[in-house]
Amino acid sequence: MSDREVFEPLARGALVPNLASYRRLHARSLEDPDTFWAEEARNLHWKQPPPSGAPLLTYNLDPSRGQVFTRFMPGAITNVCYNALDIHVLRGNGDRVAYFCEGNDPKDVATVTYKELLGLVCRFANVLKKHGIKKGDSVLICMPMVTEAVVGMLACARIGAVHSVVFAGFSADSLAERIYDCRAKIVLTVFAFWRGTKLIELKNIIEDALHKVETKYTYKINKCIVLPHINTVATANGGDPKASWNNARDLWWVDECETVDNFCQVEWMDAEDPLFILYTSGSTGQPKGVVHTTAGYLVYASTTFKYVFDYKPSDVYFCTADVGWITGHTYLVYGPLANCATSVLFSGTPFHPDNDRFWDIIAKYRVSIFYTAPTAIRSLMKFGDEYVKRHDLSSLRILGSVGEPINREAWLWFRSVVGNNKCSIVDTYWQTETGGHIITPLPGATPMKPGSASFPFFGVEPTLLDDNGAIIKGPGEGYLVFKRPWPGIMRTILNNHKRFQETYFAKFPGYFFTGDGARRDQDGYLWITGRVDDMLNVSGHLMSTAQVEGALAEHSAIAEAAVVARPHPIKGESLYCFVTVNKTHRFDNVLAQELKKLVRDKIGAFAAPDEIQNAPNLPKTRSGKIMRRILRKVATGDRDVGDTSTLADENVIEELFANRRP
Ligand code: WTA
Repeated sequence: MSDREVFEPLARGALVPNLASYRRLHARSLEDPDTFWAEEARNLHWKQPPPSGAPLLTYNLDPSRGQVFTRFMPGAITNVCYNALDIHVLRGNGDRVAYFCEGNDPKDVATVTYKELLGLVCRFANVLKKHGIKKGDSVLICMPMVTEAVVGMLACARIGAVHSVVFAGFSADSLAERIYDCRAKIVLTVFAFWRGTKLIELKNIIEDALHKVETKYTYKINKCIVLPHINTVATANGGDPKASWNNARDLWWVDECETVDNFCQVEWMDAEDPLFILYTSGSTGQPKGVVHTTAGYLVYASTTFKYVFDYKPSDVYFCTADVGWITGHTYLVYGPLANCATSVLFSGTPFHPDNDRFWDIIAKYRVSIFYTAPTAIRSLMKFGDEYVKRHDLSSLRILGSVGEPINREAWLWFRSVVGNNKCSIVDTYWQTETGGHIITPLPGATPMKPGSASFPFFGVEPTLLDDNGAIIKGPGEGYLVFKRPWPGIMRTILNNHKRFQETYFAKFPGYFFTGDGARRDQDGYLWITGRVDDMLNVSGHLMSTAQVEGALAEHSAIAEAAVVARPHPIKGESLYCFVTVNKTHRFDNVLAQELKKLVRDKIGAFAAPDEIQNAPNLPKTRSGKIMRRILRKVATGDRDVGDTSTLADENVIEELFANRRP
């Protein structure tokens, strides 16, 4: 990667038109954050503004000085759903399209306007109320990319319920853990859906999960509301939609909506009331329920969407992220809706019915802003340029990337083939925890370096620290931390503020630590170097080594397991597992397949290991700690393993290389 390769920004007439204005605005946002955020907040509706003269953003990021906290606009009252829908309808924009809904099958299309969406949300909010959901209750949503997933989220926001969306690719075990952790009262799901040519019988997985919730945690949800998704009921479950139906608990979405009123008053919320929980992997293997609140998240989602995508009312925006991840929350739902944007909501895969599906959709809706993940770009690149060239993509003006570092080759392909050298690329760095973009180019302002997320967003102040916690000035590489919060940062881990403090603030007191490393080049550009903790990022899905190791160790043949990331040309990273088999068992292909399946069943299909290596012995220090650094070298076939003097038995290395999987 070359630090010197620079491409000029291409967005014309942008909100932030050049680097100097970015620098000026950024400096101002740090000198006087309250004024900056007050101006941004003015675009939104406040039932009651914060008391005048009171500071907007207050915080403590140093656990030795008391509880860590961030508060934004305390005393203000608003409702996120009202800002996402009602104000647009009241301002005469009710007929604007909120979503072009494009199904898995290209013929399965629908359009929903702001006014229609408001109607659907009001009805469903009344359904939730009818079943006893009140302000502060948790509702778990496990659905594919259908309009109703968005309806469910906004209905919760409308009545002050806290949604917890779980990606519809998790296993029953993972789901059960999450349903119980947030004590969900209601679960929203679909009966079954198509992903490409694969039928996913989601209700059956939910059924399993709910059974586990009852037996393992002795907890019971009240209701499960099921959407009979298009064309699926007849095929799933051998034609019997009620094969696993619990009459006391399960309800059809459509039936429920028929009997309720289409008006629903919003619940006015305090600025710091929780809006949602979203689980993300933790390095212990136990998922963390990241809590986001009302005013700060809303203002941050709305402001980042506007500047980072340089949003204009004439834009058509297409974000391919699933609603089950933070990108789906902030940049498929809340950010675009707060800006009254028109988005594409796509529920299929990029490869169905052919490998040009994204390009087909961009041409069909004249998409101007396209936001996707490096893993998708890399997997589409390999089919060659013809698939892209088949379509008229001249409507595109801004391209975005998120989820993992984007390699130079993919970046260049995205720019020249997809963007026809006419689009700015925003390589947006952020996390579930940060709520929105924190390091990113701005499309009209930032000269781009392929692979660099470049500069901080407004109000954000990144710092690089060395191992001793000393600040690295100028060019250098270190831990990426932030010494002040921004409105959209997470507030706590659900029911575990102690873990929140320990995970993010204990290593470097006074700073929020991301778990990522970064490098600053001679021009001040930031290059994210990846996780520095025991986390893996496979196709943009974060998971912890401990979580996968835990799943492997559940197999009766396994004595011990150690998992590392191996670079992968498409997925970014893949799982490479080392297993030590019990004396009573033998390692063979059958066992390796069983182990792969076990991880899929325990965590989800996206966590399936690529390789399982037989490791009669693992490289351990004298104190018994596994040296993953050496395992990473074995996984990549790099014989330069470095210092091995702390190893209890150096012979292990030869054995590991001898058993290595290609
Ligand atoms: C990684 C996704 C490099 C990073 C929004 C982070 C990135 C983790 C980028 C968060 C990027 C995300 N460049 N790395 N542009 N974007 N990451 O919580 O390691 O699913 O900590 O949020 O993804 O993943 P999460």
